[in-house]
Amino acid sequence: HIAGVIFDLDGVITDTAQFHTQAWQALAAKLGVAWDVSLQNGLKGLSRMDSLALILQHGQLTDHYSLAEKKQLAAEKNTHYLSLIQQLTPDDIFPGIRAFLDELKTNGYKISLASASKNAPTILRHLQLTDYFEKIVDPATLTHGKPDPEIFLRAAEIINLQPDQCLVLEDATAGIAGINAAGETSLGVGDPNVLSAADMVFSNTADITLANIQHRMTMTTT
Ligand code: G6P
Ligand code: MG
Repeated sequence: HIAGVIFDLDGVITDTAQFHTQAWQALAAKLGVAWDVSLQNGLKGLSRMDSLALILQHGQLTDHYSLAEKKQLAAEKNTHYLSLIQQLTPDDIFPGIRAFLDELKTNGYKISLASASKNAPTILRHLQLTDYFEKIVDPATLTHGKPDPEIFLRAAEIINLQPDQCLVLEDATAGIAGINAAGETSLGVGDPNVLSAADMVFSNTADITLANIQHRMTMTTT
């Protein structure tokens, strides 16, 4: 049975996915790379350098930049992104997320964070949610990014749970693939058509409660 809940951050706890998109889109425009919705969805969950690689690949520019130039471009995106998240406050937490965290605490569930973002601790601080998380995976210590299951296996390990005891909230298709490969239960946050590989999908975070999850789990296992 489920004993722990693992959270992605961007696009699950707050709408920072929108700010990542905005900052990458500005960089893509500067590089002359065309933007479309499949690129936008494909970028979700990818590490900073993997995201840049996908954008360059999309514009057939992979071999146009040296590693030093790529690091410079990624740093430029991050500076823009950091300026966008400065204004975040607890009011920006998605509906129902704090209530769900409280419900998990009250019922003794362990909670950890599996975000690929190096900015995650800063964002949690802005949202005043840091104390809910027993442990946070440090993405700098990972060998592989999403869709690899590594981050999700680590997120279970640091709260001393087996993968099959964990439920994971994710908004990215790359993340859902990683959760499924890790043998954990995937809860997609977003469009059910985009996140069709998830064990269950909630399009509205306000609906994410233990009772509703229990209900969906019974439906998928019977
Ligand atoms: C999350 C987001 C991605 C972002 C990645 C790295 O996974 O979904 O859009 O690229 O984190 O974030 P960072 O803040 O380290 O650049
Ligand atoms: Mg996300």
